[in-house]
Amino acid sequence: MPQIESAEAQQQLEQTLEHFPDRRASLIPLLQEIQTTFYYLPEPALRRVARKLRMTLPEVYQVATFYRCFSLKPRGKHLLQVCLGTACHVRGAPRVMDRVLTDLKLSQPGTTPDCQFTVLGVRCVGCCGLAPVVRVDNNTHPHMSQAKVKGMLRKYAQPAGEAPKMQAEAEGESDAAAEVG
Ligand code: FES
Repeated sequence: MPQIESAEAQQQLEQTLEHFPDRRASLIPLLQEIQTTFYYLPEPALRRVARKLRMTLPEVYQVATFYRCFSLKPRGKHLLQVCLGTACHVRGAPRVMDRVLTDLKLSQPGTTPDCQFTVLGVRCVGCCGLAPVVRVDNNTHPHMSQAKVKGMLRKYAQPAGEAPKMQAEAEGESDAAAEVG
């Protein structure tokens, strides 16, 4: 189970909680804020949210697991999705994925140790005419090639020291909801 790592992280969580009234209606915006801060929803934070909003933990989990924008597993700051749907596949998506993994020093899709990126292979993202496609957060990178990967990653790379405040779990976690089997 992910643990709140530091007093600083707990303080950050408490400061986030203070901005929201103790009402059930606060649940989704509060979870969004926690997701933005820590890049996922740590269980200790969900327990704290349940106490604050006087909800049961299962009620909080029900919402946290319903929306795909929320992750219960540690994610990187940037969600990088390589489309492996048919159109992208035939235009070289597997080679793009290989280069992404190589450049991020990952052996398989998952989260980088510095928590900057979580890489997933996904099914068609709905813009086959731009294949092969990579999505990073809300941005679509069209007509990707191995040669374009480094420049794309550089746009999102952050200086060291901006990792999330809660520790990521083991490298290689996957998002079953989005990952191509
Ligand atoms: S198959 Fe990749 S966008 Fe449709």
